[in-house]
Amino acid sequence: MKRTKIKAVLDMAASPGEVFVQGWVRTKRDAKDFSFIELNDGSCLANIQVIAGNGLAEYDQVEKLTTGSAAGVTGQLTASPGKGQKWEIQATAVDVISIAPETYPLQKKRHTDEFLRSIAHLRPRTNKYGAAFRIRSRMAQAIHTFYLDKGFHYLHSPLITGSDCEGAGEMFRVTALDPADVQKQGKMDFSRDFFGQEANLTVSGQLSAEMFALALGDVYTFSPTFRAENSNTRRHAAEFWMLEPEMAFCDLEGDMDHAEELVKYLVSHAMEHCKEDLDLFMHFVDKNLGQQLETLISKPFARLSYTDAVDILKKCGKTFEYPVEYGIDLQSEHERFLAEEHFKRPVFLTDYPRQIKPFYMRMNDDGQTVAAMDLLVPGIGELIGGSQREERLNVLDARMDEIGLDKDPYWWYLDSRRFGTVPHAGFGMGFERFLMMITGISNIRDVIAFPRTPGSIDF
Ligand code: 4AD
Ligand code: MG
Repeated sequence: MKRTKIKAVLDMAASPGEVFVQGWVRTKRDAKDFSFIELNDGSCLANIQVIAGNGLAEYDQVEKLTTGSAAGVTGQLTASPGKGQKWEIQATAVDVISIAPETYPLQKKRHTDEFLRSIAHLRPRTNKYGAAFRIRSRMAQAIHTFYLDKGFHYLHSPLITGSDCEGAGEMFRVTALDPADVQKQGKMDFSRDFFGQEANLTVSGQLSAEMFALALGDVYTFSPTFRAENSNTRRHAAEFWMLEPEMAFCDLEGDMDHAEELVKYLVSHAMEHCKEDLDLFMHFVDKNLGQQLETLISKPFARLSYTDAVDILKKCGKTFEYPVEYGIDLQSEHERFLAEEHFKRPVFLTDYPRQIKPFYMRMNDDGQTVAAMDLLVPGIGELIGGSQREERLNVLDARMDEIGLDKDPYWWYLDSRRFGTVPHAGFGMGFERFLMMITGISNIRDVIAFPRTPGSIDF
């Protein structure tokens, strides 16, 4: 008989009949003549209850099933008289696939997130992490659906690059040189390296996306990015996924409109298609989550300039760890105050001083600020960072000179401003930060299957 996923069994439960399921034992309870087995196969949060009677030929095997063991069950799907579930399977055959020893670390009590991180290979078998990673999968697919419907083209930008898009120098070097050789020579000779020059893991696919936006119109990249920021915070990972749309013939307003539409679409999509999993987070992780998601969908995001935001922060009467002055790079505490306490909803900050933003952002008429936007959200701080791009060759050129950037490696980027340049804009959304926002999970390590953070590369 063909295996049916437990989700499908529970969904089709209107028509009881014979089914075959396979999964892992969450718990087993023995009564006088029966065993009650809670089986989960990862297809959904819910387990299916299996009743295995002592009349089964293999009942001696069934009795040995422990939490974490794997089994297949054939049986009749019937309405359950018991509390807590509508349906159960009356087993006619149980195939014991493997027995987990008593050392199986996931016993019935509640485990801490810290402990579960230390067994990241097993944590997707818990309710919370199963739900988190099903939501992650669904949201990644929803991103593609959103862009397919809008006629955007999906670009695969390179992961190994020669240029530092953000200019922050927080990159992982890629080299094929033998460390022993390098040591002997006393220096890295990149001309002898694989690419004949320095190479790094990418911090952003933006520059590639711009080239393609100037050809295909609307494009997006959605891929891993790498940052060697040595900040051990709950919002930073060394390897994370970024979604980067880039739109030709688009200005900063259009960029923000697009970002707002995207976030609202994804949240609605999650509420519609991940309801059972999201309910877990609303009940057990963050009691305000339901309300927050409603706000995200129903209220327009606030929009104001960096300058106005600095004013609000200076006048709010709150003491911050980092004092606020015009010109500073806002800290997470400032961003969260604005989104959580002041506006109580997501807020776009625009027009940052050019000194604290990368070279590619479009200079405003004041000659001081750039057409940047960051989207700040409650609970997280910065979710999105983007801008209108500097499309004027002479202005871009002057800006690169101003910050002392070596222009040679960017010759192709400058070329795009020579041949058919147009206003264009885009942004990057940290996919993990988005997942933190919609689940209420407060540490980025807990929305990544196998997180990479400073000092930690297990699994
Ligand atoms: O603001 P960032 O650095 O922007 C860029 O990289 C632009 N090139 C994007 C663009 O315009 N196409 O990063 C974008 C987003 C941040 O807002 C944040 O959500 C996320 O990426 N992010 C991180 N997420 C997890 N761990 C890190 N270390 C992150 N650094 C940035
Ligand atoms: Mg940023």
